[in-house]
Amino acid sequence: MAEIIDGKKISQEIKEELKERVLRLKEQGKEAALAVIQVGDDPASCVYVNNKKKACQYIGITSLSYELPEDTTEEDLLALIDKLNKDTRVNGILVQLPVPEQIDADKVIRAISPQKDVDGFHPENVGRLVIGEEGFVSCTPAGIIELLKRSGIEIAGKHCVVVGRSNIVGKPMALLMLRENATVTVAHSKTQHLKELCKEADILIVAIGKPQFITAEYIKEGAVVIDVGIHRNENNKLCGDVKYEEVSKLASAITPVPGGVGPMTIAMLMHNCVASMQM
Ligand code: GUN
Repeated sequence: MAEIIDGKKISQEIKEELKERVLRLKEQGKEAALAVIQVGDDPASCVYVNNKKKACQYIGITSLSYELPEDTTEEDLLALIDKLNKDTRVNGILVQLPVPEQIDADKVIRAISPQKDVDGFHPENVGRLVIGEEGFVSCTPAGIIELLKRSGIEIAGKHCVVVGRSNIVGKPMALLMLRENATVTVAHSKTQHLKELCKEADILIVAIGKPQFITAEYIKEGAVVIDVGIHRNENNKLCGDVKYEEVSKLASAITPVPGGVGPMTIAMLMHNCVASMQM
């Protein structure tokens, strides 16, 4: 049976470390504030945004909440971002995605100052990651690296297969694993022989957004399996992209859903906020 990689516990450890660091920075007169902008009231976004604000409160960062109506214009949102970019009290700016269709998300991401882009979505920060320079890194993939490292899982020299190529998870994930000296393959919806390819992975990271898609047939015995998906199954229970019951019998280590990757995303957002205080 696989070791369960406990994201809840590891994220809590990180939050405790950050809380301590924030305390030390406060002693030096440094305060942190994160601006959290939500446009509209998508129920999933409300949950995420609330969790982010709670995490801020826990570690001692001020969260400035901007709840804008569904019909907010792009111009108004860009004007708010411009104001926050110039506000020296604000270290981080986060616009919860998705935004309503009248707003161009790419334009919004580009409008946030790269120095305040705690989500790590700005092309400047993405470019920095590509060429190995310091910068903000997207929180979910950064959290997966922490999960692996803090679980004592060796990355260098291992074959890592990332299934999914989104800008938020798959692409930065592949780049981070490469930075850790893994041999990386990125697979996606057009990949041929996906099963055989996944079966070659020492570390399999799955972010395809299809409930319980990855079965035992995709797994090499002893592989480490990281499940980024989160869905509700037919019984309204949370599940991931991986069929946990059967895959955990073959893997050497696996993240559960919930309690695996999910809690790490917010912990790494807090990490980025603390890093922004020191910039
Ligand atoms: N929507 C889903 N995930 C994220 C995230 O990591 N950051 C933001 N801003 N919006 C999201």
